[in-house]
Amino acid sequence: MARVDDGTASSQTDEVPAHALSVLRQRRSSKWLTHPPDVLPLTVAEMDFALAPPIALALERAVERADTGYATPASGLPQALSRFAQRRWSWAIEPAAVTAVPDVAGGVVELLRVLTRPGDGVIVNTPVYRPFFDWVGAVGAELLDVPLALDESGWHLDLPALERAFGTGPAAYLLCSPHNPVGRIHRIEELEQVVALSTRYGVPVISDEIHAPLVLPGATFVPMLTVPGAPAQTITVISASKAWNLAGLKCAMAVTGSPAMAAVVERIAPSVRWHAGQFGVLAAIAAFSEGEPWLDLLLVTLGNRRARLGALLADRLPAIRWHPPEATYLAWLDCRTVGSGSDPYNRFLERGRVALEAGPIFGSAGSGYVRLNFATSAEVLEEAIDRMARSL
Ligand SMILES: Cc1ncc(COP(=O)(O)O)c(C=O)c1O
Repeated sequence: MARVDDGTASSQTDEVPAHALSVLRQRRSSKWLTHPPDVLPLTVAEMDFALAPPIALALERAVERADTGYATPASGLPQALSRFAQRRWSWAIEPAAVTAVPDVAGGVVELLRVLTRPGDGVIVNTPVYRPFFDWVGAVGAELLDVPLALDESGWHLDLPALERAFGTGPAAYLLCSPHNPVGRIHRIEELEQVVALSTRYGVPVISDEIHAPLVLPGATFVPMLTVPGAPAQTITVISASKAWNLAGLKCAMAVTGSPAMAAVVERIAPSVRWHAGQFGVLAAIAAFSEGEPWLDLLLVTLGNRRARLGALLADRLPAIRWHPPEATYLAWLDCRTVGSGSDPYNRFLERGRVALEAGPIFGSAGSGYVRLNFATSAEVLEEAIDRMARSL
């Protein structure tokens, strides 16, 4: 590996700095403690970059004044999100329509608890972020899977199949936008059709937009609540946690745009609304208010890494196919020439000492796939692809 001992591995000044492996191995987070030290983890959605300086400063100042008590909406979080969404996406959010929740997982589960009864169907689109299955199961609802369709242009919503599913009377549609693991940004025309279906069949949409700020160069994201007609039956759950790497600090937001959906959020147990972490709230405010230049540089960095990954795959692992993601730092790799089920995952881990996410955990459509997290230095990425190639 080129540089592993000076704290940063990425020497390019036109990128956000990545930490060196020697520093990353000192992290106490899930990504770095799940596997033994000879394994390179490109797993769970955590990034290997240094914190955005305004966020680090906000947290340092909070530690100095022991500001470690309970979070409150009076902190300015709703206003910070509202201003960011207006600048970034021309999305007008009424601060009063923003409710802090501990994380996206907790927010979605509580919304499902309000919207569904045991046995009700909840539509999801596999392959999808695995905890979606757990969240639906946690409230006793049933998964109604409408798998994404795949063609030469990549993965996308299967609108005719969605229409058939809406016709069966589900209680909710849990949309992943942008989509993890395939990195798809749903097109405005597709979202308009989703709105038309949810209106016609009276099915509320929970739009998980946690990856929304992570739109890579060349793509444009459309927040669901900006689609005409959507606010009447959409609740968006969003967070700064993926784009600024704050998942451990615990803060996400449920956002509405109509009295009907605000009433749904209002029914979430008051205790949950108080459970957001103070550091999560303070970090999210710093991210939304002062973290945009850093975010823009991050997106350039991730765009570079996506291009590098494409070149490395073509050169060293030409049998692996992929559709480069439009958003997120996750690559969904078709390794079916290597094997089915979790075989590719096992091969890369056991022989290559590279940990990825096994495709089948995202649903049966993930057989023979792996998900690779490329939010790391060019050096780590290159080493991982070398190891994967050697393992074959
Ligand atoms: C689509 C999606 N939703 C939710 C989460 C988890 O969010 P949180 O940590 O806020 O629960 C992730 C994490 O990677 C994700 O990819």
